[in-house]
This record gives sequence, structure tokens and C-alpha cells, in this order.
Amino acid sequence: MKKFFKWFGIVLGSLLGLIMLIFLGLAFKGNSILNKTYDVQVEKITIPTDADSIARGEHWVKAECIGCHGDNLSGGPFFKAPFASFDAKNLTSGKGGIGSEFKDEDWIRALRHGIGPDGLSVFIMPATDFRYLSDQDLGDIIAYVKSVPPVDKEISEPSFNLLGKAMVGAGIFGKGVLVARDIEENPATFSYPAAGVTPEYGEYLINASGCRVCHGTKLSGGKSPDPTAINAPNLTPGGELIAWEEADFIKALRTGVAKSGHQLDPKEMPWEHFKNFSDDELKAIWAYLKIQPKLETTIPK
Ligand code: HEC
Ligand code: HEC
Repeated sequence: MKKFFKWFGIVLGSLLGLIMLIFLGLAFKGNSILNKTYDVQVEKITIPTDADSIARGEHWVKAECIGCHGDNLSGGPFFKAPFASFDAKNLTSGKGGIGSEFKDEDWIRALRHGIGPDGLSVFIMPATDFRYLSDQDLGDIIAYVKSVPPVDKEISEPSFNLLGKAMVGAGIFGKGVLVARDIEENPATFSYPAAGVTPEYGEYLINASGCRVCHGTKLSGGKSPDPTAINAPNLTPGGELIAWEEADFIKALRTGVAKSGHQLDPKEMPWEHFKNFSDDELKAIWAYLKIQPKLETTIPK
């Protein structure tokens, strides 16, 4: 019996040791993934300074950025878990903001490629979508962000503890977290149609706004990369939108009330940003959705 316990102890001890080694190995791998630097040729875009461009930039920022960076763009807590935390950066030139440090090329690199001035990937910030923006639209956005009043607010740097690093090493953080890696692994093609109530411009807005991140690449249904998110419905004529008119769609994106009367949860479906799109922009999105093939609803795993 004594012998048995001795052997049992040795086996258990070795097993625990092995698990510990695997864990440390994964944490080591995660660490090197997190410390990977990316090198890209940053596009030369002249950032405008005139009032019209800044006003156009403000319109975009209301639809695309304030949901995470706050109305005054001073950022704040975004994601906090026992293994990692990321805050949305303070974009102003106040104390603790990046506005006083970022040069034009730093803004362009971050928004188009998801890469910080230090060459590391940014977390969460959806450059995977913003890379679809034309030079002009991106320039207008940066022009506006540079013009906002400074707000003093210290923001913590993204952090991962040992468990978080092991999770990165094990590939548990999927798409949507390491933005520069997502962009590198998913090359895209771009087109820049003129603004107008056309399906082409609607497609441009859809790509730049991340609708496909949640509703699926073909918009036939999907799920946000956030594991706690609910399923996003089919937006092609194969789903409920077959019975909608343009006015129903505009109402849903402006007020969060679907045609059925169902209230769309703004934490799941970010209509509180998209309500800032103009009527013409929403009509363009609708024009694109309407001409999609009638696809069966994709039920995400
Ligand atoms: C889904 C939420 C979300 C949206 C939408 C978003 N951001 Fe961010 N942004 C973040 C988070 C989180 C960070 C911090 C990332 C980090 O520290 O790696 C960040 C960081 C940044 C940075 C700093 C990158 C760096 O290198 O430190 C810039 C610049 C930025 N955002 C600009 C914008 C602009 C402009 C928009 C709109 C066009 C926008 N963001 C929309 C979440 C978001
Ligand atoms: C972060 C994920 C996410 C993004 C980004 C997103 N959606 Fe949604 N959307 C959802 C979810 C989830 C629902 C269901 C919400 C609910 O039932 O509370 C939804 C619901 C909808 C509905 C209602 C459909 C119905 O059958 O009732 C429409 C219309 C819609 N989204 C359009 C869009 C458009 C257009 C975009 C891009 C401009 C977009 N969504 C971007 C997650 C998202």
C-alpha cells in the first residue's frame, strides 16, 4: 500500500509539473505573439485643416468612434477581465492623451494598419474596418480628432498577466483582438465610390463600419468576436428584412426599434453610433442590402 502511494505521488507530481510546463510554454509563446512588431509603409496623406473637412470628420467620428472613445474622445475603460485589460485611449491632446504625441503618420498607421508608433499591434481598435476608408475620409477624421479640445485623463496601457499570455499562446483570443495580425492575415481589396444614395456607397459604409464583423462576411448572419455576444441576424432578403421598407430600416438604425417592435440592444448592435449617419447614408446602406442575394440564415457556432 505504501508503495502504491509513493508511485501515485510520483505520477501526480510529474503530471502537475507537466501541466505547469505546458502553461509556461504557452505563456512564453503568447508573450512573443504580443511583442511581435509590424513594419508597414505608411501612406502619405495630407491632413486637411479647413473647416469643411473638419466638419466631415466630425460626422464620421460620431458614427464610428465615440461609442468606444466617449463623446469628448477622452477614452476610458473598455475591457477588463482577470487575465487582461484594455482601455480605449484618450485621443485628445490633454494630459494622458495621445494627441500631443501622435504625428500624422502615427494616426494613419494606427487607423489604417492597426499598428502603434512602437510597431506593436493595437488591441480591439477596429482598423480592420477603418482600412476601407479612402484617403480623404481618413484625413478628415484625423483632422477632426486633432481639432478637439484637450481633456486631461490618464489611461492605462493594455496589460496581460501570465494567464492572459497563456491564453494568447493557446489561440483563445480569436479575431478582433490583435488587430495588426488580423489585417496581415486577411488582405482586402478596396474601392472608393463617390458619396451618394447608391448601393456602391452603401457597401463602402458597410465595410468601414464593421457590419460584417457581426452579421457575417455575406451579411447572412453571424456573431461578434466577443464570446458573450448574441447572434446577429441575417440582413439579406433571406432574413426578416425581406418584409422591411426603407423607412423601417432608417427607424431601426435611428431609434433601435425593429419593424417587429423588438428593441435592439445597443450593447449588442451599436445603433447608438449608427444613428449619426445621415438619411442619405442610411438609404445607401439600405440600397445595398436590398440587392443582396436571398441567403439562408447562417447560424454561428
Ligand atoms: C470597438 C471600440 C473602438 C472603436 C469603435 C474605436 N476605437 Fe480607437 N481604440 C480602442 C481601444 C480599446 C484602443 C486601445 C488599444 C490599445 O491600447 O492597444 C484604441 C486606441 C486608439 C488609438 C491609439 C492607437 C495606439 O497606437 O495607441 C487611436 C489613434 C484610435 N483608437 C483612434 C480611433 C478613431 C479615430 C476611431 C474612429 C474612426 C476609433 N479609434 C474607434 C477602441 C475603439
Ligand atoms: C457588434 C456587432 C454588430 C455590428 C458591428 C452591427 N450589428 Fe446589427 N445587429 C447585431 C445584433 C447582435 C443584432 C440583434 C440585436 C438584438 O436583437 O437586440 C443586430 C440587429 C440588426 C438589425 C435588426 C435586424 C432584425 O432582423 O431585426 C439591423 C437592421 C442591423 N443590425 C443592421 C446593421 C448594420 C447596417 C450594421 C453596420 C452599419 C450593423 N448592424 C452592425 C450586431 C451588430
